[in-house]
Amino acid sequence: MFVNPLTALCMVDVMRKEGHKAIVHTVAASNLGQMLIKLCQKENISLVNIVRSQSQHELLKEMGAKWVCNSASPHFLQDLTNAIEATGATLVFDPIGGGDLLTQIMAVMEKSLVQFEPYSRYGSATRKQAYIYGVLDRSPTTIRLNFGLAFGISGWLLTHYMQTLSTTERLQMQARVLADLKTVFACHYTRVVSLAEALHLDEIAIYCQRATGGKYLINPSSGLSA
Ligand SMILES: NC(=O)c1ccc[n+]([C@@H]2O[C@H](COP(=O)([O-])OP(=O)(O)OC[C@H]3O[C@@H](n4cnc5c(N)ncnc54)[C@H](OP(=O)(O)O)[C@@H]3O)[C@@H](O)[C@H]2O)c1
Repeated sequence: MFVNPLTALCMVDVMRKEGHKAIVHTVAASNLGQMLIKLCQKENISLVNIVRSQSQHELLKEMGAKWVCNSASPHFLQDLTNAIEATGATLVFDPIGGGDLLTQIMAVMEKSLVQFEPYSRYGSATRKQAYIYGVLDRSPTTIRLNFGLAFGISGWLLTHYMQTLSTTERLQMQARVLADLKTVFACHYTRVVSLAEALHLDEIAIYCQRATGGKYLINPSSGLSA
């Protein structure tokens, strides 16, 4: 009810406040990614989803996602180019952190933008913004500066962003989560465990994998005698 739903709402808030037309989201088959897809569908927002396997691609297509690009596909860069050109996305949220996917996305955005702007040796004048909001890959983040000089790459945390919102905005978002808890923000759990079970090593080994569709629900009342 808290972190992932509010993060999806805040991503859309960032997009609107910064004046972007669409969002690119990496790790789009995650729990948060699936919420963002449903939220963007409901709000008619263009969302470019990046996944890393064919099964994730199929999952999101079944959900009705329009733009899904599989980074493991040989057509990835072409698919991403088509999606970014069609949506005009200049904003990316990335929880991977490490590697060079971010650079690839920013370069595709730049190529798409320069086609419609007067030539400048400094690249497009339109700002591209990337927010790294997770560290799923702990290897170094590789940035090749092949996307002009109008860009920002920043860290992003829900707690910090919530502190920039007014009380009214925060209350509106919380009310929105409650209203859509069983639809947009509905969550599937692979297993319900008690507090004691959550400490079993074999359970920890499963839920620490951070795999798609692998959420556990901890029920503190479970396993307690009456
Ligand atoms: N900064 C913030 O305020 C904030 C707020 C909310 C969430 N988050 C972050 O957002 C991320 C998603 O959260 P969630 O609860 O939605 O996760 P989740 O449902 O547990 O899903 C984790 C996803 O990460 C993918 N993944 C794992 N390692 C990866 C890697 N090295 N490269 C690419 N993909 C990888 C998994 O794909 P496979 O099945 O292919 O492994 C899976 O789809 C987490 O990193 C979380 O910490 C941050």
